[in-house]
Amino acid sequence: MNAESKVSRYSPDFDQPVRGDAITADRYISKDWMDLEIRNLWPKVWHLGGVLADLEDEGDIVRHNFAKESVILVKQEDGSVRAFYNSCPHRGNRLILGETTSVPAITCGYHGWKYDLDGTLIQVQDPDDFESGNPCGRVHLSELRCETWGPFVFWCMDDDVPPLAEWLAPFPERLAGYGLENWVRVLNVSADCEFNWKIIRDNFNESYHLPTIHPELATFINDGLPDTLFEMYPSGHNAMWMKGHQATTRKDYASGEVPTPLDAIAQAWGVDPAAYKGRTDEVRAAIVEAKRRLGAERGYANYDQMTDQQLVDYFHCTLFPNLTITMSPEQCQILRTEPHPTDPEKCVFQHWCLYPPVPGMTEVETPVGPLPLRHDALKRHSVYGDGVSVGYVADQDLSIGTSQQQGLNSRGFKGCLLPLQEKRVQRFHELLNDMVLGQ
Ligand code: FES
Ligand SMILES: [Fe+2]
Repeated sequence: MNAESKVSRYSPDFDQPVRGDAITADRYISKDWMDLEIRNLWPKVWHLGGVLADLEDEGDIVRHNFAKESVILVKQEDGSVRAFYNSCPHRGNRLILGETTSVPAITCGYHGWKYDLDGTLIQVQDPDDFESGNPCGRVHLSELRCETWGPFVFWCMDDDVPPLAEWLAPFPERLAGYGLENWVRVLNVSADCEFNWKIIRDNFNESYHLPTIHPELATFINDGLPDTLFEMYPSGHNAMWMKGHQATTRKDYASGEVPTPLDAIAQAWGVDPAAYKGRTDEVRAAIVEAKRRLGAERGYANYDQMTDQQLVDYFHCTLFPNLTITMSPEQCQILRTEPHPTDPEKCVFQHWCLYPPVPGMTEVETPVGPLPLRHDALKRHSVYGDGVSVGYVADQDLSIGTSQQQGLNSRGFKGCLLPLQEKRVQRFHELLNDMVLGQ
């Protein structure tokens, strides 16, 4: 293998220039940076607020707390979902206190003002005691934009941001084959963490950490260069294709036996690992063929819409600024961090896993172990460091968060020094500089 073959590979169609802005520690530790993000960044992007499975019936409500903000998604009589700020127009009290609920009308717990599901005020105490007349029918909850994609509901605070489908591009088109619409969110976990939200964003914007932080992935995900393909889109989103069902080319797995667990995965699709001794890199193509042949009879109705790449590979979609959708053939992971309400050195990490509804399948293997194939089979919030898992691989990513945050606080840290394969990290910060600092 010559030296050139270990250089990063960026899609010629989807590459973007970077300027080389310094990435210094202030953006991870300063309250000023945090305040500027709250003013200039977070209102300008779409936020994933929940899933339609929690909004099936009229009056179903999902509350999404984001930093100091709180938004409620409300299922309407006509089947649509609308989003409102979770704040009473009377004197500002928060209206909905639980994460999910179902109500015939929204009633404020302070003076009892009552709002219809469409946000219209319908009942107040002493309606004649207002100088301008009875406010009912004239006062409304403050509304935000709300749109859906697949099983997901998004909200946005700003009217100038493009419509959701446009903002998400190219992912709705690129992910269409998976048929996410009816996938089931089985895992819904989150944790309070002691690091800035961007620490994990940086981590998801590179694969440089795989050999050191996730060494056990090496036998079935190929993180080698130039096999891994990076894409950067004009929108600011980016992606990474990693070959799955294939061992890393960083080491010589190809000429030996098919390594574990790839051998078991191959066997499950009727591919005999012994037949691939000395050419283990060909297992991937054999599994594509087996999935094409056996997928439908095993209940994977989506396979015939998927590309060969989608049938075996890992497609990491990193949406600017804080949402990652990691697709593997039978699992969609949502991974994101959201800022703490007041402390720049803390964040909330969220991890959802969705699975296709395969007839007859009652259980799925998730990053925290086997779980029943049903909505929110495991839902919990924890404090990172208390030993409660947020998912096997995610635990490993989070394990560096606190120590990196501590190291960034050192006077000796002068700014990041990035290899080519971390160009997506560089671009992420330059886009932030443009939006947050207005540079
Ligand atoms: S603050 Fe809501 S009714 Fe008074
Ligand atoms: Fe990772």
